[in-house]
Amino acid sequence: MNAMKKLIVSLKERSYPIFVGASIENTGALLAKENVTRGVLVVTNPTVKRHYFSKLSAGLTRAGYTVALCVLPEGEQYKRLAGIEKIYHAAVKAKLDRRSPIIALGGGVVGDMAGFAAATYLRGVPFVQVPTTLLAMVDASVGGKTGVDLKEGKNLVGAFYQPKAVLIDPSTLSTLPPRQLRNGMAEVIKYGIVKDRQFFRYLQSIAAQKRMPSRGEFETIIYRCCAIKAAVVRKDEREEKGVREILNFGHTFGHALETATGYRKYCHGEAVAIGMMLAAKLSGQMNLFHDTAAVEEMLRTFGLPVSGGKGIPGKKLVSIMLKDKKVRHGRLRIVLPLSLGRVTVKEVPENGVLAALAEEK
Ligand SMILES: NC(=O)c1ccc[n+]([C@@H]2O[C@H](COP(=O)([O-])OP(=O)(O)OC[C@H]3O[C@@H](n4cnc5c(N)ncnc54)[C@H](O)[C@@H]3O)[C@@H](O)[C@H]2O)c1
Ligand SMILES: [Zn+2]
Repeated sequence: MNAMKKLIVSLKERSYPIFVGASIENTGALLAKENVTRGVLVVTNPTVKRHYFSKLSAGLTRAGYTVALCVLPEGEQYKRLAGIEKIYHAAVKAKLDRRSPIIALGGGVVGDMAGFAAATYLRGVPFVQVPTTLLAMVDASVGGKTGVDLKEGKNLVGAFYQPKAVLIDPSTLSTLPPRQLRNGMAEVIKYGIVKDRQFFRYLQSIAAQKRMPSRGEFETIIYRCCAIKAAVVRKDEREEKGVREILNFGHTFGHALETATGYRKYCHGEAVAIGMMLAAKLSGQMNLFHDTAAVEEMLRTFGLPVSGGKGIPGKKLVSIMLKDKKVRHGRLRIVLPLSLGRVTVKEVPENGVLAALAEEK
């Protein structure tokens, strides 16, 4: 096993460490360095609880913490305000005070919800991320976006709220279903296309062997992705300066697809994979990008879908896209690749998107 590596997300007084290669049992010991009180609330879901709660809880207890538990129902369709209220009640019951941490143990759904509850309970309590899906390790657990979906659209309610620490134990990937591993690979590939050509080449070298990354390679991948995300977040914490926006590559369309299909048909990463392909094609049609084939090949090799949205009218998808948080003055802003490792953000007219969608079907 690789040694634990530490990265810092530098945000002045909100700076925090990401421990890549930490062990879940050590959470208590790592938490001891933070200025938090002894009562902690762990938020998780039934599957993750079954696999990892006793490990986490044993470590916390050993380090002197009193552990309370809140189990949320599993799945994106439950990333709703009702779940947040459930966390608040558990927090009251556990008698959390303003320095008692809420620990998210799980994937992005648990992390986004626990984070939003931590941001708002008593106007903010410390928050710690223990991500257990690849997607949450490389993306959702870092950067402080928290929140829930409304029936009208994804992530429409939330807060920027940075964790105090992110503890990544890659051994938890051993129980993750293959579909969820592929799901996380979509965000991994995204980082390559958006920011790091060399990393994209590294992924290609694994893809060439027609296999998923090994345990050691996953640690390298997670570290690289977290480093990229940390650098982007440092420059543009609240997505106001047009820097963080690039991480939404594939997401405007991906989110619309998730919304249109009731958050049931596609995992987040699958929808993003389809969205990245669409953006690549759109960029190709505008003669800005010439590596669509390499993107498609990479997505396919890691078992991700490259088209979708059949049977959903293009106009419906576009109208959902127009409700996206990133829309300005009613125009669609889309992240378009320019080359492998470089993207730009452009306002694309509705009919351009409709044409690209029509080609999909
Ligand atoms: N906050 C952010 O910056 C950010 C970034 C990307 C995605 N997200 C959000 O994250 C969510 C998607 O996260 P996700 O892909 O992790 O999905 P998820 O949280 O739904 O987890 C996927 C499935 O894996 C199971 N699981 C989790 N860890 C496991 C393990 N170690 N072993 C076995 N099963 C395990 C879960 O129970 C669940 O069924 C979306 O809601 C998305 O909007 C947020
Ligand atoms: Zn995403």
